[in-house]
Amino acid sequence: MPQRHVEPAPVDSTAVFKNDIFKGKVLFCTGGGSGICKAMTEAVMRHGAHAAIVGRKLDRLQASAEELAAATGNQCLPVQADVRNPKLLQEAVAKTVEKFGRIDFVICGAAGNFLAPISKLSENGFRTVIEIDTLGTYNTIKATLPHLRASKGSYIHVSATLHYRGTPYQVHVSAAKAAVDATSAVLAVEEGPHGVRSNVIAPGPIAGTEGMDRLSAKGPAAQDYASFVPLGRDGDVRDIANVTVFLFSDAARFITGQIFPVDGGCEHLRTLP
Ligand code: HXC
Repeated sequence: MPQRHVEPAPVDSTAVFKNDIFKGKVLFCTGGGSGICKAMTEAVMRHGAHAAIVGRKLDRLQASAEELAAATGNQCLPVQADVRNPKLLQEAVAKTVEKFGRIDFVICGAAGNFLAPISKLSENGFRTVIEIDTLGTYNTIKATLPHLRASKGSYIHVSATLHYRGTPYQVHVSAAKAAVDATSAVLAVEEGPHGVRSNVIAPGPIAGTEGMDRLSAKGPAAQDYASFVPLGRDGDVRDIANVTVFLFSDAARFITGQIFPVDGGCEHLRTLP
């Protein structure tokens, strides 16, 4: 066997991209109060953008907004809204534009999840996740699109890799994320002529996130993920944040309608039987 190569920890995006590439830009991020989306927001703000973070829990949003502003020196507006409610989302967009004057980047990241086999999952449980992930994405696109047309802006949808195979206990999320992937593709081809881009980031096993801590690592299908990631470690939220900066940057200006698994190679791994 060749010696196993283990990737070092990820770098911060400011070590790769110039600090001011997003100066004057504004990010609108659903689910930005915590986890992966908060790290994505921080990275975009570190490159000069102001941001609005949207979620259901105002206390958490306010604390995160203060933290993000202090860490980056840019402004962060916390806005309470449930992505299932189009009216509240429209209001959140209006507050963002009122404060910052524009929206250039949108991260559709709000998601709900829990583990349940099909045999035990209720209709309402299935519907709830579809409504948060898929309908929430649609509602976010509808509320922000006029502003992204005006700015020739860019969307990133936070999806998953679990629907590429049959992942146990995840039928609701798998169905919801497959629809998110499809929605992004349609958005890309319809809005490309208006100068709007749309791409998907599909995180793999990312350490310290809801998906890993609550759903995978401690769930019934618990495994030591790092031991089979081809690049030799769990992902880090900075791995997702770095790709976010690239996709929003001009370096990616000819990329739209694509799905980027950020999973250390897991998608392509097939162990011998
Ligand atoms: C079975 C459950 C359940 C559970 C909720 N339901 N939790 N069923 N097992 N653990 C069912 C309820 O019984 C109910 O159906 C229906 O779902 C709605 O539940 P509510 O609690 O009323 O809904 P709500 O408060 O709106 O939202 C619940 C939730 C919640 C979104 C599902 O779990 C949540 O907010 N989770 C935190 C967000 C989260 O997990 N984010 C991380 C996503 S990570 P009935 O029939 O009883 O009325 C991710 C990446 C995936 O998505 C990668 C993983 C590897």
